[in-house]
Amino acid sequence: MKDSIITTKNLTKSFTDGDKVTTVLKGVEMHIERGEFVAIMGRSGAGKSTLLYQISLLDTPTSGEIVIDNINIQDLSEDERINFRLNKLGYVFQDYALLPDLTSMENVALPLLMQGYTKDEAYKRAVEVLDQVGLQGKYGNIPAKLSGGQQQRVSIARALAHNPTILFADEPTANLDTESSLLVLKIFKEIHAKGQTIVMVTHEAEYAKTADRVIEMKDGVVE
Ligand SMILES: Nc1ncnc2c1ncn2[C@@H]1O[C@H](COP(=O)(O)OP(=O)(O)OP(=O)(O)O)[C@@H](O)[C@H]1O
Ligand SMILES: [Mg+2]
Repeated sequence: MKDSIITTKNLTKSFTDGDKVTTVLKGVEMHIERGEFVAIMGRSGAGKSTLLYQISLLDTPTSGEIVIDNINIQDLSEDERINFRLNKLGYVFQDYALLPDLTSMENVALPLLMQGYTKDEAYKRAVEVLDQVGLQGKYGNIPAKLSGGQQQRVSIARALAHNPTILFADEPTANLDTESSLLVLKIFKEIHAKGQTIVMVTHEAEYAKTADRVIEMKDGVVE
């Protein structure tokens, strides 16, 4: 093994609704190297988002092991999990998940302020990352005054602001037109070239080609 960033062993996830149990992840064995850009593909309902939520610590698996950056996630306390998420992971979602009343600048700076950056540091860093995603001149816009593609770029800036060890993205281009989608992928490519580890779920084979490697999910396992 070279420099592992994410490894899962026999990862399972079941959902219980009354006495009905649905097993969505059926023993996922997966390995991602530091610095890789990986696309997770598969049919709708294959369990891609469910897998992403487990390995990005947004959800807790039913059984199995996850090791991220040499840390056994199942050994962490709830507080340690929260800190791990805040400090080491970045998220981009299909629907951007921006706070509607905050400007681009404030949306990006807020998580930094929550992590203890000073106001000066947080805003300075927000400018850097907003510029990196091509949003010079849009610092003061609230989300409603931005296009979908611009909103997604704000969310990417927010995800990158604290230099996450891993960037997770669940269908980041699903709500975007082709031009905006290609711009998002171009940004991913650029940050990957600088060493960013990226795990992206996508439906689009065309977009998955941007990644170094495709992980194919079928029926709750990785093929
Ligand atoms: N919280 C939940 N409770 C019950 N079932 C769930 C829950 N979350 C997901 N599922 C089920 O797990 C299966 C996989 O869902 P998941 O969202 O991971 O699929 P996906 O591969 O991301 O699909 P899509 O491409 O449509 O986003 C689906 O059958 C879904 O109904
Ligand atoms: Mg999904």
